[in-house]
Amino acid sequence: MRTLTGIQPSGKLHWGNYFGAMKSMFDLQEKGENFMFIANFHAMTTVRDGATLRAATRDVALDYLACGLDPEKTVMYRQSDVPEVQELAWYLSCLTPMGLLERCHSYKDKMAHGFDATHGLFAYPVLMAADILIMNADLVPVGKDQKQHLEVTRDLAQKFNNAYGEIFKLPDAYIPETVATIPGTDGQKMSKSYHNTIELFEDAKSIKKKVMGIVTDSTPMESPKVPEGNSIYELYKLFATKEEVEAMAAAYRAGGYGYGHAKKALLEAYHRLFDPFRAKREELAKDPASLEDILQAGAKKARASAAPVMEKVREAVGL
Ligand code: ADP
Ligand code: TRP
Repeated sequence: MRTLTGIQPSGKLHWGNYFGAMKSMFDLQEKGENFMFIANFHAMTTVRDGATLRAATRDVALDYLACGLDPEKTVMYRQSDVPEVQELAWYLSCLTPMGLLERCHSYKDKMAHGFDATHGLFAYPVLMAADILIMNADLVPVGKDQKQHLEVTRDLAQKFNNAYGEIFKLPDAYIPETVATIPGTDGQKMSKSYHNTIELFEDAKSIKKKVMGIVTDSTPMESPKVPEGNSIYELYKLFATKEEVEAMAAAYRAGGYGYGHAKKALLEAYHRLFDPFRAKREELAKDPASLEDILQAGAKKARASAAPVMEKVREAVGL
């Protein structure tokens, strides 16, 4: 069983990304074969500055390594280090009906948010299909918003197989329904588009300010409170032990326990989990050559995996 995930380097990773995506990936790496790549070609649809893209690409690699990605167990590579994906994207493009891409929500959403209507943004699902098919992935863990792109991938694999013979496996999306939607500082879903995120590694002062600023109702300190649905409590559940969570719930219900107390507990629980990750990240960041070695080693494995697939594909299409 091979799992493949792509992460766009288009913003700083936040608590929602960690608990909604990264953590389940680290659990998966204990089973089966895992591939994770940093989708820097994809990020070019929205990032227009070379230095920014390079730094964001490095930051994603550092964040994943610091939080638990083991490069011995997960093949981590930069998308651009496997240029064959661009080649495969072209072959798939030649089979892609315009209407299929015109129906994609993510393109329409981005347009609605004022992004330029470029060909890259429009053709993005074809490149994504190439990322997946070139690595023969069985399972692709993604957020709900990417479900349609997986349908496009399966559709293109099928069209290719119909035209040229059985070359591609049809991958499945893996969308864990059990992953809760992590609330942001304003109570809505935490998302970089809503400017309500708490980043994994922003400086401690700024994290404190954001945690202390989480929006709550105005129930007075003395009054009993309902823990379920309260953002601080919901966030605390992610970081704390079962006993700690039960203790906080009881304190909410009893009254005499304010949201300020709960925020302090949340901040402590964040530091307990993330301070070791932060220390590891600082160590890794001091040694850019070793980071590059990890990425190059990943690229080598990824290209070795892509090579036989591309050989079959070139043969089949008549090159
Ligand atoms: P953003 O909404 O900040 O742009 P992305 O769409 O890039 O985040 O999400 C990357 C991954 O992180 C996806 O798998 C997504 O499901 C997960 N994720 C992001 N925000 C949350 C959240 N608030 N709750 C749960 N999962 C999230
Ligand atoms: N489109 C994905 C996102 O925005 C990133 C991505 C690109 C991806 N290629 C992929 C995810 C292949 C899984 C598999 O989150």
